[in-house]
Amino acid sequence: EAIEKGGYDHFMLKEIYEQPKSIKDTMRGRIHLDKGLIALGGIRDYERALANARRIIFVACGTSWHAGLVAEYLFEELTRIPVEVEYASEFRYRNPIIYDDDIVIAISQSGETADTLAALEIAKQKGATTLGICNVVGSTISRVTDAGAYTHAGPEIGVASTKAFTAQVTVATLMALHIAHFKGSINTSQFNRYLFEFQSIPDKVERVLEKAAESKVIAEIYKDATNALFLGRGINFPVALEGALKLKEISYIHAEGYPAAEMKHGPIALIDENMPVFVIANQGPSYKKVVSNIEEVKARSGKVIAIVTEGDKDVKDMADYSFEVPECDELFTPLLTVVPLQLISYHVAVMRGCNVDQPRNLAKSVTVE
Ligand code: G6P
Repeated sequence: EAIEKGGYDHFMLKEIYEQPKSIKDTMRGRIHLDKGLIALGGIRDYERALANARRIIFVACGTSWHAGLVAEYLFEELTRIPVEVEYASEFRYRNPIIYDDDIVIAISQSGETADTLAALEIAKQKGATTLGICNVVGSTISRVTDAGAYTHAGPEIGVASTKAFTAQVTVATLMALHIAHFKGSINTSQFNRYLFEFQSIPDKVERVLEKAAESKVIAEIYKDATNALFLGRGINFPVALEGALKLKEISYIHAEGYPAAEMKHGPIALIDENMPVFVIANQGPSYKKVVSNIEEVKARSGKVIAIVTEGDKDVKDMADYSFEVPECDELFTPLLTVVPLQLISYHVAVMRGCNVDQPRNLAKSVTVE
């Protein structure tokens, strides 16, 4: 096992560090900058169906559901196709309304999650086209779907998903860009600009990892918290959910993820000097709004740990701690902003003496209902 961990103390840490490679492996052979195209062989016969879809419905569980929420922002922004993201366990029992020009896309690392599989069966019965975004080659979900695109994250052993999430977001980005270009909702020069920028993401993730030591400092300060709040807006709202899930599943600290503006409808009541509030505050369309949300937290003596863009000043001045990530197009930021949150959760869990790779009561793959 020590050999499998490749010198890391835990699989989770190894998998966090593998992300530049796993994202690159997921992009490999699919981005052709010279020809100005994305090749996704698995869905080649479904491009037209996707471009003409009435709706795209993502079904998933856990972290894969969060990847679905990121995909919703990507697809709606780029392709202008309406998207819904469903918990597979809810979708399957709701007698969902599905049209035969809907496309249902299952996202699953293992490709074996029982609820996700059952949701797909219902979508099939109702006549929808089904696609899969799976990591495990030959898994049940990859076999029962009409087609799909694999994530090439490699085996993920840690129960808390890290590199599978960023690989899922990578595939969703490739699919959204490809379909948007195919249907003409973005023009060729926009497409080429996105492609050029997207292929620089693995290097930018590497730059985030170079600052990993800062996440340990932050973890040391907040490791004894009993509650934590994670806030984000837009495409980084799902990252807030994922940050909260990571912390709660491996460190057993109660954590909630919220859309930053929604905080005032509930969680703000919990904020005091003992409450760490992790805020994704990168430069982008929501920046100014997030700054006012941080002011609201500070006014109640909350402790703010902000994920900011390199060179940021305003948020850094207000926050108790900040962690910088490289600048990039808003649509690709989740691949960078999630990494410090993974690292902080990891270090908090280790410092609290938790079993990071096998948290209590959790399973890597939930094959029963
Ligand atoms: C379990 C795992 C999570 C995972 C979820 C969905 O809860 O612990 O890490 O996100 O199942 O699994 P899947 O294999 O379908 O992505």
